[in-house]
Amino acid sequence: MSRERLCTLAEIPDHDARGFRTSQGEVVVARRGTEVFAYQNRCPHIGICLNFQPDVFMELTQRYLLCSNHGALFRVEDGYCVHGPCSGQSLRRKDVVTENGVVWLLPGN
Ligand code: FES
Repeated sequence: MSRERLCTLAEIPDHDARGFRTSQGEVVVARRGTEVFAYQNRCPHIGICLNFQPDVFMELTQRYLLCSNHGALFRVEDGYCVHGPCSGQSLRRKDVVTENGVVWLLPGN
């Protein structure tokens, strides 16, 4: 399997996130400046997608990723759930890299 182009960095507003349908399933990519953090779009609570609406993943302060189903909050940096029914669990990390302003999903994780 080869790496997969997701988007340009500029297509993810800073302190926001975007969702992608990939060969590895649904993936959410959050941006902090020039850094990106990617997770499988599946809440550890009951295993469903985090978002109701396309690309709406952040809570109002844009500090945490939000599960719209029952309000779980996840740290952007490591996917750890700090509040909600799955407190102490984490989103599953996906490996991404940014090269020349393009965000790539790496194979096999
Ligand atoms: S499914 Fe995410 S908090 Fe319940």
